[in-house]
Amino acid sequence: MRDAVKGAESLTLDEIKALSEEQAAQELERLAQVIAAADKAYHGEDAPDLSDAAYDALRKSNTAIEALFPHLRRDDSPTLRVGAAPSEKFAKITHVVPMLSLDNAFDDGDVRDFVDRVRRYLGLPSAQSVRLTAEPKIDGLSASLRYENGVLVSGATRGDGAVGEDITANLKTIASIPHQLKGSDYPDILEVRGEVYFPRSEFAALNARQVETGGKVFANPRNAAAGSLRQLDADITRSRNLAFFAYAWGDISQSWRDSQYEAVQAFGAWGFTVNPLLLAFDDLDDLLAHYAKIEALRSELDYDIDGVVYKVDDLALQARLGFVSRAPRWAIAHKFPAEQATTLLEEIEIQVGRTGALTPVAKLKPVTVGGVVVSNATLHNEDEIARKDVRKGDSVIVQRAGDVIPQIVGVVLDQRPADSKPYEPLTECPICGSHAVREQKPGDKEDAIRRCSGGLICPAQAVEQLKHFVSRNAMDIDGLGEKQIAAFYEEGTIQRAADIFRLEELDQEKGRGERLRNKEGWGATSARNLFAAIRERRSVELHRFIFALGIRHVGETTAKLLARRYGSFAVLREAMRTAKEVDSPSWKDLLDIDGIGEVMAKSIVDFFTEEKNETALSDLLEHVTPQEAEAVQMDTEVSGKTVVFTGKLEKLSRSEAKNQAESLGAKVSGSVSAKTDILVAGPGAGSKLKKAQELGITTLSEDDWIALIS
Ligand code: IVH
Repeated sequence: MRDAVKGAESLTLDEIKALSEEQAAQELERLAQVIAAADKAYHGEDAPDLSDAAYDALRKSNTAIEALFPHLRRDDSPTLRVGAAPSEKFAKITHVVPMLSLDNAFDDGDVRDFVDRVRRYLGLPSAQSVRLTAEPKIDGLSASLRYENGVLVSGATRGDGAVGEDITANLKTIASIPHQLKGSDYPDILEVRGEVYFPRSEFAALNARQVETGGKVFANPRNAAAGSLRQLDADITRSRNLAFFAYAWGDISQSWRDSQYEAVQAFGAWGFTVNPLLLAFDDLDDLLAHYAKIEALRSELDYDIDGVVYKVDDLALQARLGFVSRAPRWAIAHKFPAEQATTLLEEIEIQVGRTGALTPVAKLKPVTVGGVVVSNATLHNEDEIARKDVRKGDSVIVQRAGDVIPQIVGVVLDQRPADSKPYEPLTECPICGSHAVREQKPGDKEDAIRRCSGGLICPAQAVEQLKHFVSRNAMDIDGLGEKQIAAFYEEGTIQRAADIFRLEELDQEKGRGERLRNKEGWGATSARNLFAAIRERRSVELHRFIFALGIRHVGETTAKLLARRYGSFAVLREAMRTAKEVDSPSWKDLLDIDGIGEVMAKSIVDFFTEEKNETALSDLLEHVTPQEAEAVQMDTEVSGKTVVFTGKLEKLSRSEAKNQAESLGAKVSGSVSAKTDILVAGPGAGSKLKKAQELGITTLSEDDWIALIS
């Protein structure tokens, strides 16, 4: 490893803060090149030419500069590549037509220059208008979808533009991506390209779930989209409700429409969602007015955008214009300026979450940032406050860089009051007064999060637990949302989960005026519907029930693992009681579940053996019956084995094969290594098959596999 690679130096945070816009743009360009070269070396046969630490430092520096100068983010930015680090998880797909990036324009002058260049290249007189389309530049991840005779056969990420990752299974879970095109006038071969994005309306809820389950918290919807797309388990992708806008195309088997605008409308007719803000203009001033309109709408859209893309509408002209290096001459991205503002930090307030996590929140003097009034910003945790040295009374720079939750970028130090003092973390929960502590993590590290130790005696935790219990991916009780839970909690009707199921009975015992249907915000129908929705949930899928319990570190995926492994709630509960003994067989069984590590296991066992939880659970089980799940069979031919599927499977779908293998106790992996026990190879298997043969791993055909498991 050599760190002395030329250009591998990275800037410190202070140096980054001191960059001018021009320097920042130059540094981002340099980093894009150095990181791309390092990725290439890592991927290829060469030894990696940077140490991991140096590589991480470069990426961090790139991310920090982009956070400060979001509008300077390049289209070839390392942060835009799906799967930050080079990944071997997915097979590669070579794009028949490369996926290009766009040049940027930062002001009206740059746009006029662009149109002049187009005219000059085409030899058009300067008075002649050039019809351009204008549409939002969606801040997501581009994907290419290949349709053969109207059927979706594969889908890939952009990757480096030439080669992307095969994420067909994941893309198929997106509702706005048709599996079969509508109508009949589509070309036999058609690659539709567009942007996968994470709807803003879903983003806050996702992060709330991630926080509570100890999962990764995403900085912005685009990161969430990337994280959701690169799941090996397509069911996770499905649960994230991603969406897709179609705006371009790649390989195509027959001549196409005459204009960009018509082409995109055709996508709409074939079943894609196309952006409603796409319009075509002959006049440059009208085009720029549309830019202003889109910018004004920015904060109301359900997706992040970072500019407006202009494209020459006439496809014959597009063909004449062609490409220069990696961007078309016929298109440009008109970026929005960064959304930043300076305001006063009035207070650092502490919010208490479901698992007791204390999250500092900056209370700001309301300020408009990019059309939205901001009065709160997250401060993440006390280390983050210390790192940025953010203090009460500071003037701070606030930013919405496509992020729904505004961030504090930095402090204007020369405006700091003379008597200001560094932030001192609370050691008591501000809600219930219990001790608030930072736990020791394995390896002697301190957890970044401080937690209230009060458990359910802490009203903040109790009410957040209840909200989680009824939430969509948990018990999913229609008509009982966060607002209703908070109100019922406050009036004392619902204090714990079991109370939800007593609600109807209790309501019937009440006097007329007291009945729910006569309360403000309710009515006879909504009250009746609520009771019906609650009744319906008296029987619930096991994994939902487990997830709803709100056990720390247990997200949906872990809940599913537990449901599958133990099959019934009674079996799970009993096993967890006996797993209290470290080294007991049930403790080992729990740890044997792939995807459950020691921290998670301990948290699960602690939950089931804690007396207060035991009582609350018994009470709850009087009302709710978790259904049985299909349990994993532990003594099969393949239990405990690691299986990899590669190539085309002809009898089973990928997810079917995976589910089957897992339900027989096998672990399914995406890549071949020395740990692989069985490779199931269908037609078209390539590098994985070769590697398996080199490693002497048992290789089966799909038929052999089916024979083995039946
Ligand atoms: S057109 C050949 N249209 O921006 C032109 N790109 O800078 C291909 N993007 O990788 C791109 N919204 O991820 C186009 N309405 C839009 C877009 C858009 C977002 C992204 C896309 C692409 C990048 C290129």
